[in-house]
Amino acid sequence: MDNAVRPTPAENDPLWWRSAVIYQVYVRSFADGNGDGTGDLAGVRSRLPYLRDLGVDAIWFTPWYASPLADGGYDVSDYRAIHPDFGTLREAELLVQEALELGIRTIVDVVPNHVSEEHAWFRAALAAGPGSPERERFWFHDGLGQDGAGIPTHWVSPFAGETWTRTTNPDGTPGEWYLHLFTPQQPDLNWNHPDVRREHEDILKFWFDRGVAGVRIDSAALLIKDPELAEVPEQPGPGEHPTQDRDELHDVYRAWRAVADSYPGTRVLVGEIWLPEIDRFVQYLRPDEMHTAFNFDFLSRPWDAAELRASIDLTLGAHAPVGAPSTWVLSNHDVTRPVTRYGREDSSFAFLKKRFGVPSDAELGTRRARAAALLTAALPGSLYIYQGDELGLPEVDVPLDRIQDPMHFRSAGIDPGRDGCRVPLPWSGTEPPYGFSAPDGQGATAAPWLPQPSAFADLTVEHQAADPGSMLSLYRAALAVRRAEPGLGDGAFEWLDLGPGVLAFRRPGGFLSITNFGAEPVELPASAELVLSSAALADGGLPRDSTAWLREQPGD
Ligand code: NOJ
Repeated sequence: MDNAVRPTPAENDPLWWRSAVIYQVYVRSFADGNGDGTGDLAGVRSRLPYLRDLGVDAIWFTPWYASPLADGGYDVSDYRAIHPDFGTLREAELLVQEALELGIRTIVDVVPNHVSEEHAWFRAALAAGPGSPERERFWFHDGLGQDGAGIPTHWVSPFAGETWTRTTNPDGTPGEWYLHLFTPQQPDLNWNHPDVRREHEDILKFWFDRGVAGVRIDSAALLIKDPELAEVPEQPGPGEHPTQDRDELHDVYRAWRAVADSYPGTRVLVGEIWLPEIDRFVQYLRPDEMHTAFNFDFLSRPWDAAELRASIDLTLGAHAPVGAPSTWVLSNHDVTRPVTRYGREDSSFAFLKKRFGVPSDAELGTRRARAAALLTAALPGSLYIYQGDELGLPEVDVPLDRIQDPMHFRSAGIDPGRDGCRVPLPWSGTEPPYGFSAPDGQGATAAPWLPQPSAFADLTVEHQAADPGSMLSLYRAALAVRRAEPGLGDGAFEWLDLGPGVLAFRRPGGFLSITNFGAEPVELPASAELVLSSAALADGGLPRDSTAWLREQPGD
């Protein structure tokens, strides 16, 4: 079915989120409507028809709030205001409405673990000084030792390095320390404080009142800290880590769920939860907590049949008892782009392994990314697509002097950081800004905030839309099939055995997905009709690193 003429999803479908295709917009890099080199809401609004034609059900916007952008907007100074470079609150409201008119729901990003150092609460806390009620909303603490110069704990940041910064008192003397699991510009909130809980429930209402269909919860497993400030045990047992996955978190999300459930239509809570223990992970998805959470296990695995099969089994098996659908995620704004990752010798993902100059075979990576796109789109549950993956964009080597990501700087320069997957999208034309920026009133465009490589010339939307063999055409076709095929999305799933090195499964209605990881072409079931494939078949066989979708004929 042509996505452009698809029916608008039933407004009140309470289960929309269980099968939704959700497209992640990194606002700063999606489309620039005023020619200043930074993406904005005007740009997104002008490109909504593109997203409708792609066939997505919802958009998740990474933080679009007022922020000094010390961590790409995950340092929010006002959760109820739009960053002036992106637009206005009125534009956000219009955007939510216009998207809905095209049948696309909106999910906003909520960042509850920390605020920006520019947030009114933190400024007030610094100004009010030690012992003040304003400081109780954060984690201010004396240092160790007589002069207080010893760091309160040795908790290590996910961004590398220490997690406490010492303040200076108004009289210039060294003062208390404050906790920041990420950068010093992102002070952690104290979730034992009633103001913090109340404020976030109000923020949820603020956005639900504006028609958003859900929230993505940033760093969702980190909010609660051990008030005793214990060091991290060598092998923390369940719930024993001082800053992660503490049992008290579940009460926070039960309260959030009550807020979401008080609105008409299903407003969803989607957790960003990186936890090694899947049994602990799914506890957040019990019926009175979040609706879904990102499946980072699948994203972290290498391109290998046994590994991916193990991940699928683990995921489906762990979600079933809590009744939550799985999510399938190949990438996001934090990780290496799939075409680059899958083209490497080690195609698994881990933050700690990110280094400059790891070679990647672009052709191989693209081939596998195409196969992965069909594989994941056929699995049961909801599907996330990070902007630009539908164009097969590679991870870009951003020149050292243009890197902005604090992950790079905090790693003492050994981690290239995350800017390589955040480069502004190429829409049209043959040179930068590749249609990313609409000209301003004088007909000019500023350079994009991160430089685009010349390789983008062949990857523009314009170029790919005209090519039936492109990544974009594959995504459009796949999402049209997914929308038309009642057996896809949430629902039953059954493995088929087509030998080692092949992942094959059946979905309701006789829909088959077959991925070949092995060197030998795989013979496809003769009686099934081919629906779509990520690569041309060779003599009727499915070649290496490709996926085919088929439909069994009635009576097979
Ligand atoms: C996870 C977000 O995805 C990432 O971009 C951010 O840096 C951290 N949380 C801190 O907010």
